Amino acid sequence: MAEARPFHWEYQAPPVPRETIGIEGGHPLRGEVSISGSKNAALKLLAAATLTGERCRFTNVPEIADVVLMADLLRDLGVVVDHPEPSVYEVSAGDVDWLFVPLEAAAKMRASFILLGPLLARFGRVIISNPGGDRIGRRPVDLHVEAMQALGATIGYRNGYYFAQAPGRLRGGHVEFPHVTVMGTENAMLAATLADGHTTIRPAAREPEVDDLIGFLQAMGADVQRTAPDVIEVEGRRRLRGATHHVVADRIEAGTFAVAAAITGGEVTLRGAPSAHIGAFLDVLQEVGVDVSEAAEGITVRGAEPGSGAYRATDIETAPYPGLATDLQPPISVLLTQARGRSTVHESIFEDRLEWLTDLRHMGAQIEVTDAHHAAITGPSRLHGTELEMGDLRAGASLILCALAAEGTSTISGVHHVRRGYEDIERKLLDLGAHIVPAAAAGVPGTT
Ligand code: UD1
Repeated sequence: MAEARPFHWEYQAPPVPRETIGIEGGHPLRGEVSISGSKNAALKLLAAATLTGERCRFTNVPEIADVVLMADLLRDLGVVVDHPEPSVYEVSAGDVDWLFVPLEAAAKMRASFILLGPLLARFGRVIISNPGGDRIGRRPVDLHVEAMQALGATIGYRNGYYFAQAPGRLRGGHVEFPHVTVMGTENAMLAATLADGHTTIRPAAREPEVDDLIGFLQAMGADVQRTAPDVIEVEGRRRLRGATHHVVADRIEAGTFAVAAAITGGEVTLRGAPSAHIGAFLDVLQEVGVDVSEAAEGITVRGAEPGSGAYRATDIETAPYPGLATDLQPPISVLLTQARGRSTVHESIFEDRLEWLTDLRHMGAQIEVTDAHHAAITGPSRLHGTELEMGDLRAGASLILCALAAEGTSTISGVHHVRRGYEDIERKLLDLGAHIVPAAAAGVPGTT
């Protein structure tokens, strides 16, 4: 296979509206928030529905921009995607007449690459763009491509596109990853469900969203099992049937709201939060000294009085599940600005997922980013409002957290980044008592 090259040399993404919000910090968040369905599960489930020509129905789908993008991408391929009521999607991939995932879609959302496995397995070919997505370090797809090759596909690379073929059927095989990859595992698993023979995937990612996808595939009639914590085995079937599925709750959204309660000194119940899926995160909250209690309806987080110095510094390291999720590293980093002493952050999954932390210095945080994977945060710091710009989804949500904790008003631009993955985040925060104002009211000219 030719080596993947950057592809942006000729592609200019269309401009997105420069949307800005203002947040007046210092108000404790109180009340209840309902946790939506998981972004990272929903996107893969919608893609998995292309494995059958029969209708699939999904409930608890988050109303977020990435889901809209995936639905539009599927429609462009000829798939019928209905959205009959909020949080419900129905997908019928009877006719897929366009086995081409264009750069325009891929550049907006890296998860578009999850279509490689199912389209290749069902139709024997696909042309798919090298994805762009979040600007968080190098995000290659070599492991996805190698997994398809292990299942018998031939894949070429030209001008930013992978040309994948599997005349006849994919063949079951051994997919061995050099390290854990979530979407790589999912792509291999989706492809293997329609392959001829037995597939073993190891190390298979253990994220709850992968198990949610396994549950849906089993409902479709696929023979997929997690036979050991990090091994998934698949016996390929000739065809799969339509199925219905309720999307698992979003553990990252739950963690983000938990930190919002903790840093504002509020008290928030996270209704429907998947506590079993955020054990490592809850351990960190406990180490820091955040009061967390669990009940049948959800998790309640009680924050300490801001400025009381009640929180303790700690050292965190992100890791594949069941370790601490890299997507929760940015919210926890915000919390650590309020902890007494020196905390360290080891971001082990992605390079450059710490760069955004330097922006927090403008708000008064004491942060040193020592290299691509390590940072130190000394606290507690009195944060003050300032002008901020979101660079990606998770860091973007964490800028909102900082603004909620800061004294004075912050203006945050690039709000479309959080719309990608957080359902109705402004309304949810407003309902909890956050002071969020349209940008114009916060004194930002020329924004909508
Ligand atoms: C998924 C999640 C993302 C989360 C991440 C890690 C979705 C849509 N996104 O991303 O929110 O932060 O898991 O939990 O589910 N890698 C390669 N080659 C590849 C694929 C990955 O080198 O072909 C590397 C990545 O650069 C990274 C590591 O493997 O360093 C793990 O990434 P991976 O688990 O694949 O992340 P995603 O599945 O893309």
